[in-house]
Amino acid sequence: MSLLSVRDLTVSFPTSDGVVRAVRGLSFDVEAGQTLGIVGETGSGKSVSALSLLGLNPGADISGSAVFEGTELLALRQDKLRRVRGAEIAMIFQDPLSSLHPYYRVGWQICEAIRTHRRTSREEAMRQAVELLRMVSIPQPERRVHAFPHELSGGMRQRAMIAMALALRPKLLIADEPTTALDATVQAQLMELLGGMQRELGMAMIVITHDLGLVATVADSVLVMYAGRGAERADYRAIFRSPHHPYTRGLLASIPGAAGSGGRLVPIVGQPPSLIRIPSGCAFHPRCPFAMDVCVRDQPPFVPVRGGEGHLSACWLPPDAVGVDAAADAARQRFVEGRRGPAIARLRAAISGARAGGGVAHG
Ligand SMILES: Nc1ncnc2c1ncn2[C@@H]1O[C@H](COP(=O)(O)OP(=O)(O)OP(=O)(O)O)[C@@H](O)[C@H]1O
Ligand code: SF4
Ligand SMILES: [Mg+2]
Repeated sequence: MSLLSVRDLTVSFPTSDGVVRAVRGLSFDVEAGQTLGIVGETGSGKSVSALSLLGLNPGADISGSAVFEGTELLALRQDKLRRVRGAEIAMIFQDPLSSLHPYYRVGWQICEAIRTHRRTSREEAMRQAVELLRMVSIPQPERRVHAFPHELSGGMRQRAMIAMALALRPKLLIADEPTTALDATVQAQLMELLGGMQRELGMAMIVITHDLGLVATVADSVLVMYAGRGAERADYRAIFRSPHHPYTRGLLASIPGAAGSGGRLVPIVGQPPSLIRIPSGCAFHPRCPFAMDVCVRDQPPFVPVRGGEGHLSACWLPPDAVGVDAAADAARQRFVEGRRGPAIARLRAAISGARAGGGVAHG
């Protein structure tokens, strides 16, 4: 049994502009001691999915199931969820200043995190705080434990947040964009640190990022999200060597120097859709170079494809249309010819009209 099993998670926010359908039937599993990378462009529903598991999305309509060690998280009362948060499942938030309080010293905040869940004397908690700061490679932890968050550099603050998240030795750590806003060297160091901590503590991890290149360094498996849904899910090797979904293919081509980019950086054309007006059928169809009429009409289900065991893709291309090289793209192209009819002609006309008029029409 998986440590965490999420099935058909659906999250929407009623707003004055309409209903924001942030997550639409998302399913995934996290195995004990393993790392799942969740990847997607901005607004694809990564953070909302994670926050929903921990009851941190006030005002949202949530349905589906999220079973953690046999307990349905989505049905837990707030007081029980508070016990799970931190002690069983810890989260590193996208913005370090949102979880480190500016007015309190770092060590005090770690002590409080420990003492909220465990009966521990203040002295013992402080000793553990120093140890945790040492574990995340903060130099002079005996001194830094007395620092205020603003006295630490961005990288140090992220390390302090990791220390706080690890304070209770959670079974699952969710790290939401743990390294954005940091320079590339610090990013790499932090990812290495997280990977090391994960192995040392035997915990499972969900690493959320828009950077497919970054997950390669830590993830065992990868879930690619687009417009609130799973687009592709596979072992990390299969994602990099034999992607099936054209969106994953596009993400890979936009990593400079990655296989399939042909040495060039090829960004995906267009923008992610509004989650109030989501395109019909496959939500990626207005941006997809392989879109067919069926894509405009019907939403593709997650089905197994030929990239390796457990490799799933939500795309109408045939199951063997995998790979990043020119031959694989040519095979995809041959398949779509003859499957393009009036719907695609209308779509192309709408897109070129919108470009000429400065707007983009969907669906
Ligand atoms: N409280 C809210 N009310 C209304 N809409 C919301 C709310 N929280 C999130 N959203 C919307 O839900 C969608 C998904 O947001 P989410 O934060 O999960 O994206 P993300 O994939 O984490 O993106 P990023 O990479 O920018 O962090 C976005 O369109 C966002 O504007
Ligand atoms: S279902 Fe169609 S539009 Fe969607 S990714 Fe596959 S080929 Fe492209
Ligand atoms: Mg986010």
